[in-house]
Amino acid sequence: MAISIKNEQEIALMRESCRLLSQVHKEMELFVRPGISTKEIDIMCDSLIRKMGCIPNFKNYHGYPASVCVSVNDEVVHGIPTKHRVLQEGDIVSLDMGLIYRGYHSDAARTLPVGKITPEAQQLIEVTKQSFFEGIKMAKAGNHLHDISNAIAAYVKPYGYGIVRDLVGHGIGTSLHEDPQIPNFQQIKRGPKLRAGMTLAIEPMINMGRADVEWLDDGWTVVTADGSLSAHYENTVLITDGEPEILTL
Ligand code: MF3
Ligand code: CO
Repeated sequence: MAISIKNEQEIALMRESCRLLSQVHKEMELFVRPGISTKEIDIMCDSLIRKMGCIPNFKNYHGYPASVCVSVNDEVVHGIPTKHRVLQEGDIVSLDMGLIYRGYHSDAARTLPVGKITPEAQQLIEVTKQSFFEGIKMAKAGNHLHDISNAIAAYVKPYGYGIVRDLVGHGIGTSLHEDPQIPNFQQIKRGPKLRAGMTLAIEPMINMGRADVEWLDDGWTVVTADGSLSAHYENTVLITDGEPEILTL
């Protein structure tokens, strides 16, 4: 499928969808603390999104049962909220969520510390976040998709972390997942040319140990194969002829 190019009117709707989502993320950062369950996080996200008059786009997506993916420690992505999983001091937790505003999707993820965490965990969170910003330095019309992937990979490499290969970023618009796929690791092919009006969800997932992941029996939760910690950072980004616009900040 061709990569969709949004016109000004569509871009305005994407901006608003993303602005609302970043507001939900901001509120959730204050909510996350030791003692709350991942289910409570889901209830809170769901109600914040609906209060805005929007729809949580993850809910029922291919049967996904919640409005947010809550992934703790060695869980990479797609952790399913449950009342039995209670956050503990020292955990790291990623909240990945999105919403639909007048037909337009937004998608963003943050990895947050729960109380006081180790310096090693803190570094993993920061490197994952910074790898996104390194990637989008290359997210300009005229560059190719691989420029983003390679910039992320080159930044992470010296840390010796594992870059998840089994899951990738994606185009986004009137669907949550559109073309192109956006890998976070070194690419051989240069991929499609970036053009103004593309909206992309760029989302590095980085493991403290090896890159390999496994799926739990719930069919959703992705965990690191070696049990190491994992972090995730994602924003929806608009490609322009100049600097990219990070819509979910
Ligand atoms: N945020 C995920 C992504 O970036 C989507 C989650 S899939 C769901 O692609 F099923 F959990 F919603
Ligand atoms: Co995404």
